[in-house]
Amino acid sequence: MQVVRTVAQMRAALPDDAGATIGLVPTMGALHAGHIALVRAARAECTCVVASVFVNPAQFNDAADLTAYPRDEAGDLALAADAGVDYVFAPDASELYRDGHATWVEPSGAADGFEGDLRPGHFRGVATVVLKLFLIVRPDVVYFGQKDAQQVAVVEQLVRDLNVDVEIRVIPTIRDHDGVALSSRNARLSTPDRARAAALPRALDAGTTAHRAGRDPVAAARMLLAGLDVDYVEVADWNGRKTLVVAVRLGGTRLIDNVRLE
Ligand code: PAJ
Repeated sequence: MQVVRTVAQMRAALPDDAGATIGLVPTMGALHAGHIALVRAARAECTCVVASVFVNPAQFNDAADLTAYPRDEAGDLALAADAGVDYVFAPDASELYRDGHATWVEPSGAADGFEGDLRPGHFRGVATVVLKLFLIVRPDVVYFGQKDAQQVAVVEQLVRDLNVDVEIRVIPTIRDHDGVALSSRNARLSTPDRARAAALPRALDAGTTAHRAGRDPVAAARMLLAGLDVDYVEVADWNGRKTLVVAVRLGGTRLIDNVRLE
């Protein structure tokens, strides 16, 4: 496995034979089994696997959240190597956002509502960095997690609207023993808040059961979130996929989770 720090080195490292298929797994590091599931899916179908590790300042609407974001490059490199990554692209912020950077991808549609409303500018930062990564790595296939369902919808829209020639694979959410979706942010939860977080998957299960029985999934989910600081519990419709989405705040940390209803 090779660690690549610059755009020029990344471009030079990529295979150019016609038979090569390049898989890209974009991440912000602090890798866990959720990220690794994406890498393994890429490894299974691509000849060259690139994982980017870049804490993208442009998608943090809150400076304190950016500062507190977990970073563990040594751990990331060990996990990536073990999972079969060929190249880790880990540039500095100054390499991807050069002095005078002033061009942004401004998504609407799928980016409206939910995280888009609560984190102004977040999806602009995501869409911009994702398009930059697509143009630098030129992947055949890109891997995203269902965990961030709205992000998937935003990337699908970006690819469609801007005619990006790439296939998107969506990998199911990897969960802890108590059902809590793995997230780099879980490391910031206190022990009692980590225990409270188990209400999210329970609420999604209750919502799914209610939906199957012809009842209101939102009401069922909300009951299990009583006492928590809930940002939203709603059914989103992204590209015709009805998705029960939940966001709560525990201590200073926001957690999101979702389940597809059909
Ligand atoms: P990050 O939060 O590091 O997540 C990288 C990828 O891992 C995303 O596609 C995310 O949905 C997926 N992922 C996270 N937790 C997961 C879990 N428990 N199970 C399955 N997949 C999971 O998402 C981002 O970074 C950034 O916004 C990025 C796309 C890299 C752009 O900066």
